[in-house]
Amino acid sequence: MQANFKVEKNNMPKQKPDEKSLGFGQYFTDHMFVMDYTEGKGWHDPRIVPYGDIALDPATMVLHYGQAIFEGLKAYKSDEGKILLFRPEKNMERVNISNERLCIPPIDVDLTVEAIKAIVEMDSDWVPSAEDTSLYIRPFIISTDPFLGVRPSFTYKFMIILSPVGAYYPEGINPVKIYVENNYVRAVKGGVGYAKTPGNYAASLKAQMEAQAKGYTQVLWLDGLEKRYIEEVGTMNVFFKIDGEVITPTLEDGSILGGITRESTIQLLRHWGVKVTERRISIEEIYQAHEDQKLEEAFGTGTAAVISPIGELNWNEKIIKINDGKTGELSKKIYETITGIQYGKVKDEFGWIQEV
Ligand code: COI
Repeated sequence: MQANFKVEKNNMPKQKPDEKSLGFGQYFTDHMFVMDYTEGKGWHDPRIVPYGDIALDPATMVLHYGQAIFEGLKAYKSDEGKILLFRPEKNMERVNISNERLCIPPIDVDLTVEAIKAIVEMDSDWVPSAEDTSLYIRPFIISTDPFLGVRPSFTYKFMIILSPVGAYYPEGINPVKIYVENNYVRAVKGGVGYAKTPGNYAASLKAQMEAQAKGYTQVLWLDGLEKRYIEEVGTMNVFFKIDGEVITPTLEDGSILGGITRESTIQLLRHWGVKVTERRISIEEIYQAHEDQKLEEAFGTGTAAVISPIGELNWNEKIIKINDGKTGELSKKIYETITGIQYGKVKDEFGWIQEV
């Protein structure tokens, strides 16, 4: 596969980290994928090169105006030693959704899926095999014109870097405590909430820090207009199980990122015959459902943690415990099924897996 791309091999491979203490996003492999865009020429020079620093003019546009997007997906090692990717085409399709919003020229989905396979194959001995570990894949695009006027750049860099990882949250599949954010907002209708762009994450940091100082792992984001309707939890999509029905916020308003784990969860639940509704859901409704003893489970979905159950919510100092602060049956079943498919342990009935 990687024969399609020019390869410059790293002659000084690094020592690999201990698989039992990988953490998340701390270690990087020996190679990276790079491709450039120049107006009039399009995307060109796809190549694999040794992992290393990139030199940027201090005036490079991305450093000033944040015209950039990124993605996140993982490669998993099966018991038979196969390397598996989970729906990589979905991530590359989402790149183009983000690109369109950020005025970045579209990428070729097939070519970039091949690039992911080629770079993972190149550094395949970096895919960890300890339980719950994987190789996190981070494709991203930055605008590279050295220019300080505010306009879309004429040049860009698409890159893929790789990081062997363990659990994103130290809690793993154990429930986390969540602070309902009433002050800061993550995104608004008409903004860039549906795009995976760095600014959304920069905008989230202050709320995250303040919640952590109060003893909470993350925040529950409410809509930017009325601060009523639930949008996301931390960097994840959010689901609630109320009286047997699973409800997740609709993507219609454009302020929520359309997660691939979100989409897969909805597909799985419907396949199992569980009723799933995508609609607006207010924080009042959640507290009412809790009072009526109908709030059964709540969880976040994302690539990094897959499923992160919510054990406690604090909204204006009104604290509720969900499922007694324990991981719910359905959350566990979704987690085990998705991770089972990802690691090749559960039959992939949906055609989600691609082998490297
Ligand atoms: C995810 O849940 O996969 C994320 O978006 C987290 C990532 C930014 C590290």
